Amino acid sequence: MIVYQANILFTSSSTHFDVYERGYIAVDECGIIQGVYHTLPEDFAYDQLVDFGDKLLIPAMNDMHVHAPQLGNMGIAMDMQLLPWLNTYIFPEETKFADEAYAETIYYSFVSELWRHGTMRAAVFATVHTPATHILARAFNEAGMGALIGLVGMDRHTPATLCNTPAEWAAGMQTLIESLASMPLIKPIITPRFIPLCTPEMLRSMGEMAKQTLLPVQSHLSENQQEIAWVHELEPEATCYGDAYHRYGLFGQTPTLMAHCCYTEGEELHLMCEQNVCAVHCPTSNCNLASGIAPIRKFLQEGVQVVLGSDIAGGHHLSMFRVMQYAIQMSKLQYVSSNSQYPFLTLSEVFYMATKAGGAFFGRVGSFEPGYAFDALVIDDHGLSPHHLIASSPIERLERFVYLGDDRHIQHRFCQGQEITQP
Ligand code: GUN
Ligand code: FE
Repeated sequence: MIVYQANILFTSSSTHFDVYERGYIAVDECGIIQGVYHTLPEDFAYDQLVDFGDKLLIPAMNDMHVHAPQLGNMGIAMDMQLLPWLNTYIFPEETKFADEAYAETIYYSFVSELWRHGTMRAAVFATVHTPATHILARAFNEAGMGALIGLVGMDRHTPATLCNTPAEWAAGMQTLIESLASMPLIKPIITPRFIPLCTPEMLRSMGEMAKQTLLPVQSHLSENQQEIAWVHELEPEATCYGDAYHRYGLFGQTPTLMAHCCYTEGEELHLMCEQNVCAVHCPTSNCNLASGIAPIRKFLQEGVQVVLGSDIAGGHHLSMFRVMQYAIQMSKLQYVSSNSQYPFLTLSEVFYMATKAGGAFFGRVGSFEPGYAFDALVIDDHGLSPHHLIASSPIERLERFVYLGDDRHIQHRFCQGQEITQP
């Protein structure tokens, strides 16, 4: 048993922070939290006490929607909306992942960059290329970090060099299921690109695999108005975009992550609730691609689970702290433009989304309650505000770090109890 001492903050619920000023957290040999304490119980048996002094100790970040092969596009090419952006900038880049040497370079950097920004687990889109996708899984495994790895299926309306067939996709998934079985923190996830790029045969094959394996599903939903109009043309029988996935067994039949949901309302919102489909809010991406402002407060009011994603390269930054900040700021724009109908998001709400809500896709991850995996960051915020630091509460210090801090202020990173040094 190791005991860590620090200013501990986490969100067991979205409404408030649990704060243990100069508190203690006990972690067993398997990396599981045994208890969190204001004062250590008398005669508490432990092997080692690690004192992080006045620093902050918080759960590590979970990025629930991110495209690993788009690392090279991060921070550039923001002059178009979704569909032309994909064709002009993204698909030519993803084609390069047929080359395993290129995939190895980018994917190892990707994992290293996630680490740098304090993200210990992620739900990741790879490409249609099976060998490259194995390399991505290996990069996470070697780092000791967690991931849901998505071999993308797409077989229409894209250049042939970036298509796979349903049979190729299913065969690739089979090899991933086998090799990921020996990687404890890594699992495959069924990943249709989105309805416009998947034939009914592809979607059927994916739905069947979900049913047989109970693997989770991730895709894109109602991100952009041109995209939604296209889905209505392609799937005229579906009552909404979400229903197009649902008909194939890809909308909550197994745990499901749907990114964006900028225009989800009415029937689709109802279906998300009923099917327990999780919305992945990607505010940086929605801003950069001029997609829209997802009605997150409404989702929360209706009982839809919401988590956060960086969605690079739609999003321009891998830091989930940047994503949290955008989530709050976009919700404030929505608050103003809705005549105050939808109260804006709070820090504890967005922090909960990036930690405990997203972490649920990996097991008991994202909180410091007993039984949770010790995924944690030690934040050294000295220097962020030298004159006011002493007077600030732990919550104010966390807020200042979210708005002003960066990877230089993350001093230690843990995943499942293991300290992860630079991958
Ligand atoms: N929809 C389908 N593919 C993509 C992608 O790569 N990024 C985003 N933001 N939306 C998508
Ligand atoms: Fe995306």
